[in-house]
Amino acid sequence: MKKDVIGLGIETSCDETSMAVVRNGSEILSMHVYSQFEEHSPFRGVVPEIASRSHLLKIQSVYEKVIKESGVLPEQMDFVAVTNRPGLVGSLMIGGQFAKIFSIIFDVPVVTVDHVKAHLFSPALEGNRIAYPFLGLMLSGGNSSIYRLDHFDSMEKIADTSDDALGEAFDKAATILSLPYPGGPSIEKKAEQCTAENTSPLFTKLLRDRPFDDMTFSFSGIKTAVLRAHQRREEDSRICRDFQDTVFELVERNVLKAVHLTGITKIIASGGVLANQTLRRRLDALGKKEGLDLIYPKNKILCTDNGGMVAALGYENFIKNEFSALDFAVSSRR
Ligand code: KG4
Repeated sequence: MKKDVIGLGIETSCDETSMAVVRNGSEILSMHVYSQFEEHSPFRGVVPEIASRSHLLKIQSVYEKVIKESGVLPEQMDFVAVTNRPGLVGSLMIGGQFAKIFSIIFDVPVVTVDHVKAHLFSPALEGNRIAYPFLGLMLSGGNSSIYRLDHFDSMEKIADTSDDALGEAFDKAATILSLPYPGGPSIEKKAEQCTAENTSPLFTKLLRDRPFDDMTFSFSGIKTAVLRAHQRREEDSRICRDFQDTVFELVERNVLKAVHLTGITKIIASGGVLANQTLRRRLDALGKKEGLDLIYPKNKILCTDNGGMVAALGYENFIKNEFSALDFAVSSRR
């Protein structure tokens, strides 16, 4: 009988300290996510120095919790996977150093993984098979991109933002409207309160017709438009609803362009913005209408940064015998 493969995943690339123990790259035995958002809240954005200090303080307790809950002894792990790129360098170093020490003490091989690619492996933790080729839609605080993945070793960015990431745009729009940080959940909640019907959309400029092969995301214009609407004393709830409708319409348009240009109809979406219920509903409807195999993590915790996705991707390296030397570096870039 094939032996189970157990991996420890470590994620510290930004403002979440997370670890998970995962069986065969697909079954979470235990997972913990410590989110620092309260520490960054007064600054309305992630402060790199605060982030790395907080990882240093929390990483040991997160580790102890996942090990205890998993029932797996550290020396029984088959590998330890850690995000080493892209991210905040000081934060990546905390997780990276922890993985190195774990590897030395328990004689367990290390796998370093790409944070963005790991996000696209989150659905593997909910029983989905990651089959190539597929398009990866990443919508988070640091990314608004579409990738083309033809096989395990290829990951080509085919669309990017020319300014803000979508999550960043949510956060900045929330700041303009004096809504709590992080902006995504606040804007979503406020939009639900909108009762205005048959009103003309507030933000149409962002959606002006672009060439068919232009899949660029851009959200800085709508930020200014949100400010103007707020100054005109438009209802906050209407601003939030129309903001969401407009940015999600742009996401849909770019996804369809990417499908038509590549001929690839399997799409995996992930990142913090995928926690948004309106976006989820819209992507479900789009997938149905256009005959796309479009999936995203159903469990919202798997949309945000988590150790489970790191172990899921690390498992793919493990079965290919692809390990990292212990002097691996960390990098802010992919
Ligand atoms: O992937 P993620 O957890 O981590 C980073 O990229 O750091 O994404 C965080 C981003 C934030 O900008 C946050 O405002 C956004 O995801 N976000 C949301 C929602 N929940 C979190 N955006 C829209 N709607 C949400 N419900």
